[in-house]
Amino acid sequence: PSLIEKVSRAPKAELHVHIEGTLEPELIFKLAQRNNVPLAWPTVDDLRLAYQFTSLQSFLDIYYAGTSVLQTEDDFYEMTSAYLDNACQNGVIHAEIFFDPQSHTSRGIGFDVFIPGMIRALENAREKGISTQLIMCFLRHLPESDALKTFADSREWFSRHPEWLTGVGLDSSENGNPPEKFARVFARAKAAGLRRVAHAGEEGPVEYIWQALQLLDSERIDHGVRSLDDPDLIAHLSDTQMPLTVCPLSNVKLRVFDTMADHNLRELLQAGVNVTINSDDPAYFGGHVNANYESVIDALQLTESECYTLLENSLMSAFVDTPTREQMV
Ligand code: ADE
Ligand code: ZN
Repeated sequence: PSLIEKVSRAPKAELHVHIEGTLEPELIFKLAQRNNVPLAWPTVDDLRLAYQFTSLQSFLDIYYAGTSVLQTEDDFYEMTSAYLDNACQNGVIHAEIFFDPQSHTSRGIGFDVFIPGMIRALENAREKGISTQLIMCFLRHLPESDALKTFADSREWFSRHPEWLTGVGLDSSENGNPPEKFARVFARAKAAGLRRVAHAGEEGPVEYIWQALQLLDSERIDHGVRSLDDPDLIAHLSDTQMPLTVCPLSNVKLRVFDTMADHNLRELLQAGVNVTINSDDPAYFGGHVNANYESVIDALQLTESECYTLLENSLMSAFVDTPTREQMV
């Protein structure tokens, strides 16, 4: 088999995927009709044609519009089940899945709707051999007070489902919304025994990566590709083996890099950084996790050894003990 075939079949963890970013245009239209939600695009094809992004914000505007079709517990179940089917086909044995509660509570859809819907899908997937956790992300373009209220409202759900709900994250519009804005809510999450991750250094400066580490006590950095701008930061990431959850197709679609050949993944690997490969928002960026591996293998001519490092990094950087390569073979 080719290297791409071997990597596609290999067991892997996915540590950076937004469940709302797995909503395919067909499912968006189906749920819009079922729930009588108006959409700005007349057909599925028109919606797909709108997926031409120039920046993170240009994507987020469409992503939040897509999210608006999610209304019932069954909608969240269907979306999550569809992602998990794809994940299984991509060799994913463990997934840590982000969700954006504020994009639902702001529309009057409560935790009692989306949490049971998602968990029902996670329970089914466990029988197919995929373990999962949910990470609740705060929308950084909203005020700190909104995040504090969301965390307070979520507490009973974290208590009720500690095996499924394990951590908090930080996402949405990065520039102008530094991690320091969320230091207090992350401190509360840590005090409650929750794991912590944050998007940083996707479009934003290296200063935001330092803040995520020092002020949020983040245990992984989501994206972090701008870290090569600061040699001291690269040395620190390498020394501490801080995981970066890199999403190559996302980075090219959102114009962080002009082409995949320009991606700095190999430089990160060569600097000894603990890099992993993930899909971010697979319905919007052109593929699930295996498509991300395939794209970097092709564009950067990754070696077999580099690919196994990436796969092993994904399993080792999860918040659970996953089987190591030695145990799998
Ligand atoms: N929400 C969904 N995808 C995101 C990304 N790539 N960056 C920030 N927020 C997001
Ligand atoms: Zn993301």
